Amino acid sequence: MTKTSFLSRYRTPRLPVPHQGDTALVTGATSGIGHATAKELVRRQFRVIGTSRTPDSPTSRANAPDGVELIPLDLEDPDSIAAVPADLEKLGAGPVTVLVNNAGESQNGPLEELPREALVRLFQVNVIGHVELTQLLLPQMRDARRGRVVFVGSMLGSFPLAYRGSYGASKAAVKAFAFSARREVSRFGIGVSVMEPGAINTGLSERRTIYVDDHGHYAEEFRTMLNHLNDNEATGISAAEVADEILKAISDRRPRPLYATGSSSRLAFPAARLLPRDTMGGIIAAKHGL
Ligand SMILES: NC(=O)c1ccc[n+]([C@@H]2O[C@H](COP(=O)([O-])OP(=O)(O)OC[C@H]3O[C@@H](n4cnc5c(N)ncnc54)[C@H](OP(=O)(O)O)[C@@H]3O)[C@@H](O)[C@H]2O)c1
Repeated sequence: MTKTSFLSRYRTPRLPVPHQGDTALVTGATSGIGHATAKELVRRQFRVIGTSRTPDSPTSRANAPDGVELIPLDLEDPDSIAAVPADLEKLGAGPVTVLVNNAGESQNGPLEELPREALVRLFQVNVIGHVELTQLLLPQMRDARRGRVVFVGSMLGSFPLAYRGSYGASKAAVKAFAFSARREVSRFGIGVSVMEPGAINTGLSERRTIYVDDHGHYAEEFRTMLNHLNDNEATGISAAEVADEILKAISDRRPRPLYATGSSSRLAFPAARLLPRDTMGGIIAAKHGL
């Protein structure tokens, strides 16, 4: 068997591409990466529905990109997730063939000090909520015989970092769901990918949740890590650049399992294949002042 036929034997098949006029749903469309993705989808003439926890507030309406219709969604609340199909129907939106699972919480803290309720909330918002939403919308994609689901993970899902264990774990969980579902749904014409951004300048630093005892054993190192993290984000690439990668996952005929951009991703992923895990972990820590 030649190398080419060996590789093609195991490749994901070519899939139908959602097209202009199709309905796209972007979670967390009022800010950052979700905003930029929704805006680009509008530019490409999709009908774009965005979500916000407060869709009717003047701020959310002002923050949503032009042409994006907002519906309510709080990923912490299972009832809010369950209401999404009915809200889409009320808008008369056609089948959703593009789902960008973007909204998320950026949690920080040493393993020893993370409260249970914070962990449960994080996994509900970053993982279970998006899995539930995907479950609700996959039937529409199956019926349409085309669809793309993009989970916005994080490079920290591939490259764990001290004091970001819960967040990295939530993003690694999302990646495992996506990689598994890919094989399950490709025969229905549906592609599933993960987008792993590095440090992106979205102002997310101001919206982090932080769990650390200010006078505890980890306080000083934690602050060092956080300052580096915030500096990296302030000098990170733009949300629009991430949106461009997400659009590749939506429009590539053979969507890749994983897309990544920012934080030297082009170097980091090949390096991780060559270097011992421990060395790679040390490099990531050193990049954050540890
Ligand atoms: N920025 C980065 O450096 C970076 C790096 C790697 C990965 N990421 C990931 O990229 C995604 C977007 O990040 P971002 O920086 O663009 O964040 P952001 O600017 O803070 O935007 C987050 C969006 O999520 C929505 N949201 C927050 N909590 C929610 C909840 N419980 N239920 C439903 N919606 C909620 C917010 O909308 P409302 O307030 O209107 O509800 C907002 O539109 C996240 O999954 C994040 O983990 C970001």
